[in-house]
Amino acid sequence: MFGFNLSVLFFAVVSLSKCSGRFVYSCKYPPSQWCDSADIAAECGVLEQCAKFNVTKPNADKVNVSLYYESLCPGCRGFLVMQLVPTFIMLSDIMNIDLVPYGNAQEKEDQGKYTYVCQHGEDECLGNMIETCLMNKLGLNALPVIFCMESGADVLKAAQPCLGVYFPEVTWDSVMECVKGDQGNKLMHENAVKTSSLKPPHEYVPWITINGEHTDDLQDKAMNSLFSLVCSLYKGEKPPACGQGLQKKTSNYCMN
Ligand SMILES: *[C@@H]1O[C@H](CO)[C@@H](O)[C@H](O)[C@H]1NC(C)=O
Ligand SMILES: *[C@@H]1O[C@H](CO)[C@@H](O)[C@H](O)[C@H]1NC(C)=O
Repeated sequence: MFGFNLSVLFFAVVSLSKCSGRFVYSCKYPPSQWCDSADIAAECGVLEQCAKFNVTKPNADKVNVSLYYESLCPGCRGFLVMQLVPTFIMLSDIMNIDLVPYGNAQEKEDQGKYTYVCQHGEDECLGNMIETCLMNKLGLNALPVIFCMESGADVLKAAQPCLGVYFPEVTWDSVMECVKGDQGNKLMHENAVKTSSLKPPHEYVPWITINGEHTDDLQDKAMNSLFSLVCSLYKGEKPPACGQGLQKKTSNYCMN
């Protein structure tokens, strides 16, 4: 391990001195803007690369992947951490994702307020609610925070530090205001409605729908390699990442 690190360091030092930072300092735009116009691309010395990038840009409907899950279900955590997020990072040009934290929870209504009983206890209800509120506040930018929580040893304890790492400007109090308030209550009800209108109804979690559809075959393929499934279902020109593949198998369920 030590030897490996050393050689990487050595390589970095050698290549840095060879390039003398020309690439890094050659233009004032961040990489995300390099292909925005031909002028910027030229200034940053990436005209050729951007021309290629523009040609391979998506030209078909994105593949829609929805995950119905519970914050503390081990199989859900495995799928989210090892498959969904890595796949989305690599294939966000050709896929949309939707996360619905609720799963096998049960809802009761009492004078316009909803109360919940969750499969893995009150902590799970809290985890579901925190993740719901994060997504409501941050949209899909909440994904790294959720990933950070779900990959930690303790999902709930990780929540606040995870938020701090990715969004130091968002206060924990503002998240908890949603979690404890009417807004969170309403949002969780929406998750409940979404989950209970699944056709066919979910039998376990993680429960995956692809373009709104659930079949045993799609579920198996997604659990086996979501990455390969999304690549194979995308009807446009496949992005370069699809050539390489990402093989990870997850197969744990929490029965309803
Ligand atoms: C890439 O395409 C966009 C619009 O599709 C265009 O505005 C931009 O100038 C193109 N970039 C380059 C480097 O040609
Ligand atoms: C994915 O969802 C979007 C909007 O919700 C829709 O326009 C698109 O057609 C869907 N993709 C597929 C492949 O069904």
